[in-house]
Amino acid sequence: MDKQHDGLLTTLNRLHETLMSHGDQALIDKTLSHLIDQTRVHFHDEEAFMRAHNYPDYQDHKELHEVLLRQVEGVLETQQVIESHHLQQSWTEKLDLADFLREWLISHIVDADKKLGLFLQSKNVE
Ligand SMILES: [Fe+2]
Ligand SMILES: [Fe+2]
Repeated sequence: MDKQHDGLLTTLNRLHETLMSHGDQALIDKTLSHLIDQTRVHFHDEEAFMRAHNYPDYQDHKELHEVLLRQVEGVLETQQVIESHHLQQSWTEKLDLADFLREWLISHIVDADKKLGLFLQSKNVE
């Protein structure tokens, strides 16, 4: 699970760099799609893991995953519209997006995933 988190953070950092270096829109979209695929796999695995260990907060945690996935899918849709209409996003808009994405997953990892980790530790699951 931690390895998957690292993979997600690597993609997020790459996305951040692309946004900050005025990377082209197609690359931003591509990296976002990759992030979404990775996120789907990770959430899916994490949910299976929670079920396997009868995690009591499973429903709530799964709902958080769904919200997060919808949020980032919404971001991709917006970016695709920007690309297909050849619109320009202002520097502040890019900065806001970069900040949003940085916060987007990290707050989940340090909060909900951390709780899951503590639960598993208490059950002596590695
Ligand atoms: Fe999670
Ligand atoms: Fe996670």
